[in-house]
This record gives sequence, structure tokens and C-alpha cells, in this order.
Amino acid sequence: MTNMSRRDVLGWLGGAALGGVLAGVGGVVATAGDGLAAKNDKPKLKETPKPAAWVPHKLNAVECAPVAYAGYWDDGLGCCYGSFHAIIGAMGEKFGAPYNQFPFRMMEVGKSGISEWGTICGALLGAASAYALFWGRKERDPMVTELFRWYERTAFPIYDPGAGAQGAAGPLPTHVPGSVLCHISVSSWCQATGIDAGNVKRSERCARVTADVTSKAIEIMNAKIDGTFAPALKSQAEAACGACHGKGKVSPMLKGRMDCTPCHGGSAHVQDKFHNHP
Ligand code: HEC
Ligand code: HEC
Repeated sequence: MTNMSRRDVLGWLGGAALGGVLAGVGGVVATAGDGLAAKNDKPKLKETPKPAAWVPHKLNAVECAPVAYAGYWDDGLGCCYGSFHAIIGAMGEKFGAPYNQFPFRMMEVGKSGISEWGTICGALLGAASAYALFWGRKERDPMVTELFRWYERTAFPIYDPGAGAQGAAGPLPTHVPGSVLCHISVSSWCQATGIDAGNVKRSERCARVTADVTSKAIEIMNAKIDGTFAPALKSQAEAACGACHGKGKVSPMLKGRMDCTPCHGGSAHVQDKFHNHP
């Protein structure tokens, strides 16, 4: 590098980058006295490449569910990667760019409710993120709401990988999570089934939930593409409680659309555990 002349370095940087660099340091270059800044002729091709379009494509849920299940186990990437990759990765497989250009591994962040925090179920985050590549909030929010409401009230898991099981084979006990939160979804399943959160059967359950969420997400997405998507699932709690706690009501403190029942339903599970507790 030391033997490289300044001209060599500039040439090596490349014309396109050079234009930007010189625009930013015009004063310095002018002082150097080689007149490059004065040229101001940024090299440009006549045909500016257009960005590949992120348009949604219909998918086959039966094909994608096993991919979601396997994605969960793949290098421990987990539920959020599993659902996202089964949707966008499947588009990449069929249509190439831009879908196959996505840095899929970043979706690992959603695993276990975002970096092990147990907030949103990662499989839901993955699916909602896939929607977000194609639809802005006005279009997307009802799709997300339909998926999330379905999740709240569905007995999981449904999917059975059969001979392809990677954690534990055979049927698993099911439980309705009542909540989109990873913590409530997993812990209430553990409580109901007597299976520890650290047990491989729990991982197996979440891998299967990843497949279930992917299938439902694709069903909603396909309907959206066909123009037949009509949100059907309503929350009684949201409507009842929102009547007073919603925007512009008597006690307008409510933020969010989660079903209120698991946390404000008065069940024994959410009473004080800091006193008189084993
Ligand atoms: C008829 C109107 C009304 C309805 C319906 C209603 N609330 Fe309230 N709620 C209130 C009012 C008024 C307060 C007093 C809070 C304040 O100062 O704004 C309150 C307070 C609360 C509080 C905080 C204080 C406390 O007592 O714990 C929670 C939590 C709450 N409501 C949840 C709910 C949930 C969940 C539902 C649905 C099952 C619901 N509310 C339905 C009017 C209502
Ligand atoms: C995942 C659990 C969870 C869900 C689901 C949930 N809440 Fe809450 N909510 C809380 C917690 C925890 C607080 C804070 C309580 C405190 O102040 O100690 C809170 C606070 C509130 C408050 C403010 C008053 C207060 O006690 O701080 C209202 C009103 C409220 N929630 C209504 C609702 C309604 C209506 C729904 C359903 C549409 C809902 N919440 C869903 C857990 C939840």
C-alpha cells in the first residue's frame, strides 16, 4: 500500500465510489490541486438498475410446514427464523431474487420471544415480518390480527412431523395458549402438560407450533393475494374492555390488542406469588 501512488489508490477505490467521496471532501481535494473535484462528472450508466420488487407470491402451506419445522431445528435458529424462512425462503427457491437475498439468519433474534425474553412468540414475529416485506400497516395489521387471534385460541401443537421428528416423535399433548406471548404460551403449556420448559419435548412442541403458524400465515397471505381475505376473528375482551379503556373512552389507558383474560382475568395463576408462596 505504501508504494501505491495516490492515483493508484483513487483508481482502486473505483469511479462510482470516488464521485461520492470527492463530493464529501471537495475542499480537501481542491487544496490538493489536481482539479478532480471541479469535474463533477459522476460516472453513470444510462440504465440505472431497478431494485428487484418485493411482490408476494402464493405458497403451498403443505410444502412449507415441514420447512418451517426443519428451520426451527436448523443450527438452533429457532421459531422466528423457522416461520420467516419457510415463507420468504420458499419464494426464493421458486423465484430467486430478491427473496433469496435476504439475510435470513438475522431472524434468529426472535427466538424464544426475542433473545430469550419470552415476549412475542417468535413464530408469529417471523410471519408478521414476512407480511411486512409486502404490505404496509394499513393492509398488514388486519392480517396480523387474524393470525394472532387464531394463535390465542388454538390448541397447539397440531403439526406432526411423523418419521421426520427431530426432537421427539409421536403425538404431543396440546394446550390453548390464550396469549401471543412466548412466556405465557410456553409456560402454560408446561403447567398443563407437566413437561419442563427445558425438556426436548417442549422444543419439539415449539418446532411444531412454528409449522402451524407458518401454515396459517400462508393461508391468510394466499387469501390476501387472491383478494378474498376477510378478517373473521374478534376478541370479546378487547371489545368489552376497550369500551371504557380504548382511545377517547372514560379510562383511555389501553395499549395493544392482546386478549386481556390471561392477565386481568383474575385466575389463580396471576395472583401474588411473592407472599405465602412455596
Ligand atoms: C364501564 C367501563 C369499564 C369497563 C367496561 C372496563 N373498565 Fe377497567 N376501569 C374503568 C375505570 C373507570 C377504571 C378506573 C381507572 C382510572 O382511573 O382511569 C378502571 C380501571 C381498570 C384497571 C386498573 C385499576 C384496577 O382496578 O386494577 C384495570 C387493570 C382495568 N380497569 C382493566 C379492565 C379490563 C381488563 C376490562 C375488561 C374485562 C375492563 N377494565 C373493563 C372502567 C371500565
Ligand atoms: C400479558 C399480560 C397482560 C395483558 C394480556 C393485558 N394486560 Fe393490562 N396490564 C398488565 C400489567 C402487568 C399491567 C400493569 C399493572 C400495574 O400497574 O401493576 C397492566 C395495566 C393495565 C391497565 C392500567 C391500569 C393498571 O392497573 O396499571 C389497564 C387499564 C389495562 N392493563 C387494561 C388491559 C386490557 C383492557 C387488556 C386487554 C385488551 C389488557 N390490559 C391486556 C398485563 C396485561
